[in-house]
Amino acid sequence: MMRHARVMGTGSYLPENIVTNDDLAKRIDTTDDWIFSRSGIRQRHIAARDEFTCDLAEQAARRALAAASRSPKDVDLVIVATTTPDQVFPSTACLLQDRLGIRGGPAFDVQAVCAGFIYALDITYRYIQTGASKCALVVGAETFSRILNWEDRSTCVLFGDGAGAMVLEASDQPGIISSHLHADGAYKELLCVPTGVSTAYDQILNREAFTTMQGKEVFRWAVSALGDAVVEALEANNLTEADIDWLVPHQANIRIIQAIARRVDMSMDKVVVTIERHGNTSAASVPLAFDEAVRDGRIQPGQKIIFEAFGGGFAWGSMLVQL
Ligand code: ACO
Repeated sequence: MMRHARVMGTGSYLPENIVTNDDLAKRIDTTDDWIFSRSGIRQRHIAARDEFTCDLAEQAARRALAAASRSPKDVDLVIVATTTPDQVFPSTACLLQDRLGIRGGPAFDVQAVCAGFIYALDITYRYIQTGASKCALVVGAETFSRILNWEDRSTCVLFGDGAGAMVLEASDQPGIISSHLHADGAYKELLCVPTGVSTAYDQILNREAFTTMQGKEVFRWAVSALGDAVVEALEANNLTEADIDWLVPHQANIRIIQAIARRVDMSMDKVVVTIERHGNTSAASVPLAFDEAVRDGRIQPGQKIIFEAFGGGFAWGSMLVQL
């Protein structure tokens, strides 16, 4: 029997508080028109002061477990993709495991920024294929608002908070069909938080713990790398865009998403877009968009879907999944 990693259920969660472009325009020198025309974003959800990444992850995870009709005791692997963990340690995956009452199996975080969720899915795929896991909970969760400089209009308008989750199981029915991940650390300075636990010690580098970005270079790179990654997913499976029902892209910028759809000749009717309401939620963006389109009935069982994501590192990739 072929061991597939099959998607059994999805869930997501967004913090209650919505911040519109007009709200931002009251605090910084920007306009709704500038933000929307450059990025496609109208609003984003921002976590409350006492709401943390694990809180968002827990809600999304509970919904995914309910959708999969599985209970925490069925889960033997927990992976959380996040750039914004609650604590230095333990991992957010261990905190989540405890919240849900899951015990004993491996639990760990994955850090690949906006590509984090597909990195986590790639690991899950291999755990399930080798028989190391039978039922995995995979979550992308971020409180990205905590690593933004809210006075830097070139970055703070682009991101938001949220979480998305999936339960995957070993099955003889198809699930994840292929995965192609990439990274190139030579571009580490174009998109980064230039400080961290080790470097912030004693303030030796005197850098701020906020996201910095060379927007134009990141944009150019994302379009080219993601276009290649989607072509790679198609070619590796001898498919054309006509065989694909949905593209669920990382939601960083509507112009990046449109450029990739054009590159592979895919109608925007087949692309799931949430950026207008969510902004860029980093590791949460793909599972959030996927969950929305599964729940509203756009994505149907048996359909083929391509995920793609790109983020700091650079780290990026694509996956082909059959629901
Ligand atoms: N409101 C008004 N003006 C602004 C704002 C703002 N919020 N932000 C920047 N500007 C100004 C700049 O100061 C600059 O002004 P200047 O020319 O006088 O110096 C000007 O707008 C720049 O405008 P454009 O050149 O038109 O900007 P561009 O078309 O490059 O769009 C953007 C900027 C939206 C950031 C774009 O480069 C982009 O989306 N890049 C990719 C970002 C991305 O996808 N990042 C995430 C990917 S990875 C991940 O998800 C972590």
